[in-house]
Amino acid sequence: MLTIALPKGRIAEQTLEKFEKAFGEKFVFEDRKLILEKSGFTFLNVRNQDVPTYVMHGAADLGVVGLDVLEEKEYDLIKLLDLEIGRCKVAIGLKKGSKIDWNRSEITVATKHEKIAKRFFEKKAMAVNIVKLYGSIELAPLVGLSDCIVDIVETGETMKQNGLEVGDTIMQSSVHLIANKNSYYQKKSNILSLRDKIAAT
Ligand code: PRP
Repeated sequence: MLTIALPKGRIAEQTLEKFEKAFGEKFVFEDRKLILEKSGFTFLNVRNQDVPTYVMHGAADLGVVGLDVLEEKEYDLIKLLDLEIGRCKVAIGLKKGSKIDWNRSEITVATKHEKIAKRFFEKKAMAVNIVKLYGSIELAPLVGLSDCIVDIVETGETMKQNGLEVGDTIMQSSVHLIANKNSYYQKKSNILSLRDKIAAT
């Protein structure tokens, strides 16, 4: 029996489509139910950012999550497969017409990707003051909460509509199938056959 944590939010629909193709069945979490039993698997409906936590603690054997979330958590998990959906990048966003002054000693950055942002600026020898936000990140530079943002860019439309410009790309992201290390060694053949089924969609 395998337990798989599936993400809510922007990548939920495409993820469920993948699983529907792989299993040849409809995948719907009814009403407010968070657990779905299907074809001998247990599926958990969790927040995208929480998927690696469920998998890391072994509450789920497998999970489906964006690479950006995985990089942010820095957990020791196995990446099994790139599902090649939910493609986006993590990038800098700046007020239109402004630039980062790399000679400054410190910068204030609003983001929900704290570690990714910190690593990026520290590599460039710039001290970074992180303002942790949970959404609507694009607002921060507009109201003087930060100098710039580090956020997900898919179409670039949210930044554009809010008077921001996309700056440097920090990383590319797409949705990955991940596994808990112990689960992987104990349930390898089941996990690999599921991975192959999904890879074939
Ligand atoms: C993300 C991100 C941007 C938006 C970018 O938010 O934080 O706001 O998508 O997409 P775009 O480049 O296609 O405009 P998300 O929808 O994941 O919601 P959030 O507010 O929870 O971050």
